[in-house]
Amino acid sequence: MSNTHVCPWWAGYTLNWSIRRIAHSPERILAPYLKAGQTMLDVGCGMGYFTIPAARLLGEVGSVIAVDLQQEMLDGVRRNAEKAGVSACVVPHKCEAHSLGLDKYAGAVDLALTFMMVHEVPDRDRLVFEIRDALRTGGLLLFAEPILHVGKAAFEDSLRRFIEQGFHIVERPRIVICRTAVLEKI
Ligand SMILES: C[S@@+](CC[C@H](N)C(=O)[O-])C[C@H]1O[C@@H](n2cnc3c(N)ncnc32)[C@H](O)[C@@H]1O
Repeated sequence: MSNTHVCPWWAGYTLNWSIRRIAHSPERILAPYLKAGQTMLDVGCGMGYFTIPAARLLGEVGSVIAVDLQQEMLDGVRRNAEKAGVSACVVPHKCEAHSLGLDKYAGAVDLALTFMMVHEVPDRDRLVFEIRDALRTGGLLLFAEPILHVGKAAFEDSLRRFIEQGFHIVERPRIVICRTAVLEKI
C-alpha cells in the first residue's frame, strides 16, 4: 500500500483535449495491439480518451469495458460514446476502490490498458491480480505511467509485481512523457 491521489473527475475534460493527440495519438498507441472483434479493458478510463478510439478500431463486433472509480468519468464516457456513435460496443463499468469487480469477464479480455492510473491505486497487488484474471492466456497489458509522477524505480517495482503474478515483458514502446511496457499473461 502507498499514499495515492485520485485524479479529480473534472480533470477528465482536460485529459480529453484534442491537443493531447499530438503526444498521445490513441490510434497509433493502440493499433499494434488490437484486432477487430476483440475485447479491450480500459482500466481507469477517465472520460474515454482511449475508450472511444479503441471502440472504433474494434468495430461493431468488438467491445471496450471502460472501468473507473468515479461515476462522473463514466458519465463522460457515455456521452462521448454516444457522440461518436460507438455506444453499442462500449460497456461503462463502475468499480470500487478495493476491487475492479470484473469476475464476469474472467479470461475474456484480449488487451488491457492502464494509462496513467496505476500510481493512483493504493492496493496495486490486488489490481494486478484482477487484471490478470480478466485477461485470457496470451492477452496483453499496455501499462503506461507519467514520468512526472512515477520515477524509474517505482515503475520497475510495478513491473516486478506484474512479473511475479505471471506476466512477462514483451516490449517497451516509446510514448511521450510516459514510462511504458507491454506485458503478456503467460
Ligand atoms: C490520470 S486519469 C487517466 C485517465 C485515462 N486513462 C487517460 O489516460 O486519459 C486516472 C483515472 O484513473 C481512475 N482511477 C483512480 N483510481 C482507480 C481505481 N482504483 N480503479 C479504477 N479507476 C481508478 C481515476 O478516476 C481517473 O479517471
